[in-house]
Amino acid sequence: MKTTLSPLDRLIIGFDRALRTVNPGATTATRPSPAELAEQEAPADSIDAVNKQRHTAGLMRINHTGEVCAQALYRGQALTARSNDVRDAMQESALEEEDHLAWCEQRLTELNAKPSLLNPAFYLASFGMGALAGMAGDRISLGFIAATEDQVCEHLREHLQQLSNGDKKTRLILEQMLEDEAAHGNKAIQAGGVEFHDAIKKMMTLMSKLMTGTTYHI
Ligand SMILES: [Fe+2]
Ligand SMILES: [Fe+2]
Repeated sequence: MKTTLSPLDRLIIGFDRALRTVNPGATTATRPSPAELAEQEAPADSIDAVNKQRHTAGLMRINHTGEVCAQALYRGQALTARSNDVRDAMQESALEEEDHLAWCEQRLTELNAKPSLLNPAFYLASFGMGALAGMAGDRISLGFIAATEDQVCEHLREHLQQLSNGDKKTRLILEQMLEDEAAHGNKAIQAGGVEFHDAIKKMMTLMSKLMTGTTYHI
Protein backbone atom coordinates (compact mmCIF):
# COMPACT_ATOMS: atom_id res chain seq x y z
CA MET A 1 0.00 0.00 0.00
CA LYS A 2 1.28 3.42 -0.91
CA THR A 3 0.95 6.15 1.70
CA THR A 4 0.68 9.74 0.63
CA LEU A 5 2.98 12.04 2.55
CA SER A 6 1.90 15.54 3.46
CA PRO A 7 4.25 18.45 2.69
CA LEU A 8 5.06 18.62 6.42
CA ASP A 9 5.92 14.88 6.50
CA ARG A 10 8.20 15.40 3.55
CA LEU A 11 9.82 18.40 5.18
CA ILE A 12 10.55 16.44 8.37
CA ILE A 13 11.91 13.47 6.42
CA GLY A 14 13.98 15.89 4.38
CA PHE A 15 15.45 17.46 7.48
CA ASP A 16 16.34 14.05 8.88
CA ARG A 17 18.03 13.10 5.60
CA ALA A 18 19.93 16.39 5.56
CA LEU A 19 21.35 15.70 9.01
CA ARG A 20 22.34 12.20 7.99
CA THR A 21 23.98 13.42 4.81
CA VAL A 22 26.22 16.00 6.42
CA ASN A 23 27.07 13.78 9.40
CA PRO A 24 30.00 11.51 8.53
CA GLY A 25 29.26 7.83 9.18
CA ALA A 26 25.49 8.16 9.02
CA THR A 27 25.04 7.01 5.40
CA THR A 28 25.22 3.36 4.47
CA ALA A 29 25.81 2.01 0.98
CA THR A 30 23.62 -0.70 -0.52
CA ARG A 31 26.42 -1.83 -2.87
CA PRO A 32 29.90 -2.65 -1.57
CA SER A 33 32.56 -0.11 -2.43
CA PRO A 34 34.32 -0.90 -5.73
CA ALA A 35 37.55 -0.19 -3.81
CA GLU A 36 37.14 -3.54 -2.09
CA LEU A 37 38.24 -5.21 -5.33
CA ALA A 38 41.70 -3.65 -5.01
CA GLU A 39 44.47 -5.15 -2.94
CA GLN A 40 45.40 -3.67 0.41
CA GLU A 41 47.65 -0.67 -0.16
CA ALA A 42 50.97 0.08 1.52
CA PRO A 43 51.08 3.17 3.76
CA ALA A 44 52.59 6.31 2.18
CA ASP A 45 56.29 6.13 3.09
CA SER A 46 57.90 9.06 1.28
CA ILE A 47 57.29 12.78 0.99
CA ASP A 48 56.25 12.26 -2.60
CA ALA A 49 53.77 9.54 -1.64
CA VAL A 50 52.35 11.69 1.17
CA ASN A 51 51.91 14.63 -1.20
CA LYS A 52 50.16 12.45 -3.76
CA GLN A 53 47.88 11.10 -1.07
CA ARG A 54 47.08 14.62 0.06
CA HIS A 55 46.18 15.63 -3.48
CA THR A 56 43.91 12.60 -3.88
CA ALA A 57 42.29 13.43 -0.55
CA GLY A 58 41.56 16.94 -1.87
CA LEU A 59 39.97 15.46 -5.00
CA MET A 60 37.93 13.01 -2.96
CA ARG A 61 36.77 15.82 -0.66
CA ILE A 62 35.44 17.58 -3.77
CA ASN A 63 33.71 14.38 -4.93
CA HIS A 64 32.27 13.81 -1.49
CA THR A 65 30.81 17.33 -1.40
CA GLY A 66 29.48 16.70 -4.92
CA GLU A 67 27.61 13.72 -3.52
CA VAL A 68 26.31 15.78 -0.59
CA CYS A 69 25.00 18.24 -3.21
CA ALA A 70 23.46 15.38 -5.20
CA GLN A 71 21.56 14.23 -2.11
CA ALA A 72 20.33 17.76 -1.50
CA LEU A 73 19.39 18.27 -5.13
CA TYR A 74 17.31 15.10 -5.34
CA ARG A 75 15.65 15.79 -1.99
CA GLY A 76 14.90 19.37 -2.93
CA GLN A 77 13.38 18.27 -6.20
CA ALA A 78 11.37 15.53 -4.55
CA LEU A 79 9.87 18.15 -2.25
CA THR A 80 8.45 20.21 -5.10
CA ALA A 81 8.28 17.75 -8.05
CA ARG A 82 4.87 17.80 -9.67
CA SER A 83 4.46 14.20 -10.70
CA ASN A 84 4.98 11.09 -8.64
CA ASP A 85 6.28 9.37 -11.78
CA VAL A 86 9.28 11.67 -11.89
CA ARG A 87 9.88 11.23 -8.19
CA ASP A 88 9.79 7.45 -8.60
CA ALA A 89 11.96 7.52 -11.73
CA MET A 90 14.64 9.43 -9.87
CA GLN A 91 14.44 7.29 -6.75
CA GLU A 92 16.88 4.69 -8.04
CA SER A 93 19.42 7.36 -9.02
CA ALA A 94 19.06 8.96 -5.59
CA LEU A 95 19.79 5.60 -3.94
CA GLU A 96 22.92 5.16 -6.05
CA GLU A 97 24.02 8.62 -4.95
CA GLU A 98 23.88 7.37 -1.37
CA ASP A 99 26.32 4.64 -2.31
CA HIS A 100 28.64 7.24 -3.83
CA LEU A 101 28.43 9.35 -0.71
CA ALA A 102 29.32 6.42 1.54
CA TRP A 103 32.15 5.23 -0.74
CA CYS A 104 33.72 8.71 -0.92
CA GLU A 105 33.45 9.10 2.83
CA GLN A 106 35.10 5.74 3.44
CA ARG A 107 37.89 6.54 0.99
CA LEU A 108 38.49 9.92 2.66
CA THR A 109 38.95 8.17 5.99
CA GLU A 110 41.41 5.73 4.42
CA LEU A 111 43.34 8.70 3.05
CA ASN A 112 43.47 10.21 6.55
CA ALA A 113 41.27 13.11 5.51
CA LYS A 114 37.96 14.56 6.55
CA PRO A 115 34.90 15.71 4.58
CA SER A 116 34.58 19.40 3.84
CA LEU A 117 33.52 21.72 6.65
CA LEU A 118 31.45 23.58 4.07
CA ASN A 119 29.11 20.66 3.41
CA PRO A 120 26.13 22.05 5.36
CA ALA A 121 26.28 25.28 3.33
CA PHE A 122 26.54 23.41 0.02
CA TYR A 123 23.69 21.12 1.09
CA LEU A 124 21.45 24.10 1.76
CA ALA A 125 22.32 25.82 -1.50
CA SER A 126 21.78 22.65 -3.55
CA PHE A 127 18.55 21.85 -1.75
CA GLY A 128 17.26 25.30 -2.63
CA MET A 129 18.28 24.90 -6.27
CA GLY A 130 16.67 21.47 -6.41
CA ALA A 131 13.43 22.81 -4.91
CA LEU A 132 13.40 25.71 -7.40
CA ALA A 133 14.06 23.35 -10.31
CA GLY A 134 11.25 21.11 -9.06
CA MET A 135 8.89 24.08 -8.98
CA ALA A 136 9.87 25.05 -12.51
CA GLY A 137 8.32 21.82 -13.73
CA ASP A 138 9.38 18.27 -14.35
CA ARG A 139 11.05 18.78 -17.71
CA ILE A 140 13.29 21.56 -16.41
CA SER A 141 13.94 19.70 -13.21
CA LEU A 142 15.03 16.62 -15.13
CA GLY A 143 17.08 18.79 -17.49
CA PHE A 144 18.82 20.25 -14.47
CA ILE A 145 19.78 16.76 -13.31
CA ALA A 146 21.12 15.92 -16.76
CA ALA A 147 23.18 19.13 -16.95
CA THR A 148 24.50 18.60 -13.41
CA GLU A 149 25.47 15.01 -14.15
CA ASP A 150 27.29 16.18 -17.28
CA GLN A 151 29.45 18.41 -15.12
CA VAL A 152 30.02 15.72 -12.53
CA CYS A 153 31.20 13.37 -15.30
CA GLU A 154 33.60 16.02 -16.51
CA HIS A 155 35.09 16.41 -13.03
CA LEU A 156 35.37 12.68 -12.58
CA ARG A 157 37.22 12.28 -15.87
CA GLU A 158 39.65 15.05 -14.84
CA HIS A 159 40.17 13.46 -11.43
CA LEU A 160 40.81 10.05 -12.96
CA GLN A 161 43.56 11.61 -15.05
CA GLN A 162 45.16 13.18 -12.01
CA LEU A 163 45.24 10.03 -9.89
CA SER A 164 48.54 8.32 -9.35
CA ASN A 165 48.79 4.95 -11.08
CA GLY A 166 49.21 3.12 -7.80
CA ASP A 167 45.91 4.33 -6.35
CA LYS A 168 43.66 1.49 -7.51
CA LYS A 169 41.09 1.97 -4.77
CA THR A 170 40.25 5.57 -5.64
CA ARG A 171 40.31 4.74 -9.35
CA LEU A 172 37.79 1.91 -8.97
CA ILE A 173 35.42 4.15 -7.01
CA LEU A 174 35.62 7.01 -9.50
CA GLU A 175 35.18 4.71 -12.49
CA GLN A 176 32.00 3.22 -11.05
CA MET A 177 30.73 6.69 -10.15
CA LEU A 178 31.41 7.91 -13.68
CA GLU A 179 29.39 5.03 -15.10
CA ASP A 180 26.50 5.67 -12.69
CA GLU A 181 26.42 9.45 -13.17
CA ALA A 182 26.36 9.12 -16.97
CA ALA A 183 23.43 6.72 -16.58
CA HIS A 184 21.62 9.17 -14.25
CA GLY A 185 21.99 11.93 -16.82
CA ASN A 186 20.69 9.71 -19.65
CA LYS A 187 17.79 8.55 -17.55
CA ALA A 188 16.80 12.15 -16.79
CA ILE A 189 16.81 13.04 -20.49
CA GLN A 190 14.87 9.89 -21.39
CA ALA A 191 12.29 10.77 -18.72
CA GLY A 192 11.65 14.02 -20.58
CA GLY A 193 14.37 16.40 -19.37
CA VAL A 194 15.15 19.40 -21.56
CA GLU A 195 18.67 20.06 -22.85
CA PHE A 196 19.95 23.20 -21.15
CA HIS A 197 21.24 26.15 -23.11
CA ASP A 198 25.03 26.62 -23.17
CA ALA A 199 24.75 29.92 -21.26
CA ILE A 200 23.07 28.17 -18.35
CA LYS A 201 25.65 25.40 -18.47
CA LYS A 202 28.43 28.01 -18.30
CA MET A 203 26.83 29.55 -15.23
CA MET A 204 26.62 26.13 -13.63
CA THR A 205 30.31 25.59 -14.39
CA LEU A 206 31.15 28.82 -12.57
CA MET A 207 29.19 27.70 -9.53
CA SER A 208 30.82 24.31 -9.52
CA LYS A 209 34.23 26.04 -9.64
CA LEU A 210 33.33 27.78 -6.40
CA MET A 211 32.62 24.39 -4.87
CA THR A 212 35.71 22.61 -6.17
CA GLY A 213 38.02 25.54 -5.40
CA THR A 214 37.02 25.67 -1.75
CA THR A 215 36.37 22.05 -0.80
CA TYR A 216 39.71 20.84 -2.16
CA HIS A 217 41.22 22.68 0.84
CA ILE A 218 38.58 22.73 3.58
FE1 LIG B 1 26.97 10.50 -7.43
FE1 LIG C 1 24.36 11.02 -10.16
